[in-house]
Amino acid sequence: MTLTILGIESSCDDTATAVLRGSGDAPVILSNTVRSQTDLHAAYGGVVPEIAARAHAETLDLMVEHALEQADVMLPEIDAIAVTAGPGLIGGVLSGVMAAKGLAMGLGKPLIGVNHLAGHALTPRLTDGVAFPYLLLLVSGGHCQFLRVDGPEAFTRLGGTIDDAPGEAFDKVARLLGLPQPGGPSVEEAALYGNPSRFKLPRPLLDRPGCDLSFSGLKTAVLRARDDMVATQGGMSEQDRSDLCASFQMAVADVLAEKSRRALADAQVTAFAVAGGVAANKTLRAKLEAVTDLPFIAPPLALCTDNAAMIAYVGMLAFEAGRTDDMSLRARPRWPLDVDAAPMIGSGKKGAKA
Ligand code: KG4
Ligand code: ZN
Repeated sequence: MTLTILGIESSCDDTATAVLRGSGDAPVILSNTVRSQTDLHAAYGGVVPEIAARAHAETLDLMVEHALEQADVMLPEIDAIAVTAGPGLIGGVLSGVMAAKGLAMGLGKPLIGVNHLAGHALTPRLTDGVAFPYLLLLVSGGHCQFLRVDGPEAFTRLGGTIDDAPGEAFDKVARLLGLPQPGGPSVEEAALYGNPSRFKLPRPLLDRPGCDLSFSGLKTAVLRARDDMVATQGGMSEQDRSDLCASFQMAVADVLAEKSRRALADAQVTAFAVAGGVAANKTLRAKLEAVTDLPFIAPPLALCTDNAAMIAYVGMLAFEAGRTDDMSLRARPRWPLDVDAAPMIGSGKKGAKA
């Protein structure tokens, strides 16, 4: 059966909408639009939840119109509305869920609450049709975990961060060094001209078994290196800054590569995939690709970062499986994919980790 699904995503600082057509086995992205809130939060050095929620509520209607227009689809042609129902910043998630409920009720169409993490985790199937089981490394501003994906609703978390997410660490390092936000791209650019072995930064948790990760100590080490230079030489040159960025980036890539090696050894999978904004980092991609002989899947950037096509896709799979929600659908700040895994204690830019 050919389905047309509208997807809505508003769990952090991107208001995203998309239209997906086809079936779970052959999905086609008709439109995928994102309105970033970076400019609204720039003055505060991080995402302000209340500002995010209000901005989502104000722009969602328009973004739904955009997605429909670009897809050349009329509202009545939509078979179901899929919306991120968690995990994330609760105000933003609520804005999306309320908008989706309004549409579903007005149109008399089914509503489907989607787990944002499932969206990321299933993206390699949307983009590349990768077969189960595969290992997913999700690395973004709010998340960091290894997931073994056995099916659309079968996830096992093999490890994750115990404090910051890597994107968060990139953003904080950029802030420490006076580089613009989001920090990932600006640190990567500064690192292009830097010497990655000049600063001996730690490789957190490599001395411990398993594939849990930690990034907050690394950020503190960067702060210390900066303060040392300021104390001994009165400041930092462009070259100092580039060297520090390159050393930091290499430390993150080294740790993620080694932990990926361990996760792959445990997971017994047929492919290795990455998702999340940090997966855009070229040094990291190259290191991860070299970890294994298995097929390595890195979706295009627009589908690595937060987007609604992935939400529509999970919605499509749920609809095909006969799972829809009603008006009692609730927004959830926490919603772990692997309900049997112990909760992670870290807290990223999306608030408490799932
Ligand atoms: O997946 P995403 O768009 O949103 C979240 O769910 O967080 O990821 C955004 C994060 C930001 O922290 C940003 O600094 C980081 O991804 N990022 C990068 C790069 N591009 C974006 N980190 C490292 N290198 C990059 N090139
Ligand atoms: Zn995300």
